[in-house]
Amino acid sequence: MVPKVFVTRRLPEPAMERLRAADVALDIWPEAGPPPYEVLLQRAAGVHGLLTLLTDRVDAPLLDAIGPQLRVISQMAVGVDNIDLDACTARGIPVGHTPGVLSDAVADLTIGLMIATARRFFEAAADMRAGRWGAWSPMGWVGPDLYGSTVGIVGLGRIGMAVARRLQGFGVTLLYHNRHRRPEAEATLAARYVSLPELLETSDFVSLHCPYTPETHHLIDAQALARMKPTAILINTARGGVVDQDALVDALRTGQIRAAGLDVFTPEPLPPDHPLLQLPNVTALPHIGSASIATRIRMAQMAVDNLLAGLEGRPLPHCANPHVGAS
Ligand code: DGY
Repeated sequence: MVPKVFVTRRLPEPAMERLRAADVALDIWPEAGPPPYEVLLQRAAGVHGLLTLLTDRVDAPLLDAIGPQLRVISQMAVGVDNIDLDACTARGIPVGHTPGVLSDAVADLTIGLMIATARRFFEAAADMRAGRWGAWSPMGWVGPDLYGSTVGIVGLGRIGMAVARRLQGFGVTLLYHNRHRRPEAEATLAARYVSLPELLETSDFVSLHCPYTPETHHLIDAQALARMKPTAILINTARGGVVDQDALVDALRTGQIRAAGLDVFTPEPLPPDHPLLQLPNVTALPHIGSASIATRIRMAQMAVDNLLAGLEGRPLPHCANPHVGAS
């Protein structure tokens, strides 16, 4: 019997070609936005493989609605916080994801956000377009240097490491906090391990690269923000939920910290009238960390690799719950 597959969005063309050529009964959600949860429940019922994006909620009721024939869930993202991994593991369903291929793209964007936020790119550009470009002035649109600053990386995994490597060119003092120490980063990148409070208290830039889990939910809360220097800049390209957004709005409004460069929010999409988007000291981007053409194609290809492996009962090349096996 030909396995049934539901794909929750059109993927980049090279991945679509492979899906069309595969021996599967393919159903692809045709709209630009994600299928509403109620629709997903109906449309995915009876499938053997489900290919998801981070915008799809995959929980126990969905798994039950799909049924016991489900062999694999493959997500086109490295983060799987939208998926109830325990519920998948309990049902013996491997979950594929796409680690590694997006680290460089996200690291590039992180460095871009650091500079854009510190040097006030968007504020200055908006002023220019609005006719507020007066004569060149000694202190016009000034901001702090990334060069020579102290940067604290929270979460020194693949993406954090890629950011740390890029920062070598900026002559920064590099601090990191991670669940485990990374001796190779300390040796090769001169990164110094510190506690989270010390990192917050001493960094000019705090850059978040940890996964979003119950342990990292609101890791940066009012207390954490109060520890940061009034001149510090917070960069978040991880997940919105790592930061208590209401506390961040207060900290930015009151000048408790200087500015924030954000690629991720709660919720996404963030409503355009959200207080964060009214603040001049916020540089905001709509979750585009991995949005380079080559990266998105590689992510989609990896998601197809994981999907096809799961359908065939092979171990997934990249499994977020590897102990489940690929039975
Ligand atoms: C991921 O993969 O988790 C990113 O947030 C989107 O590329």
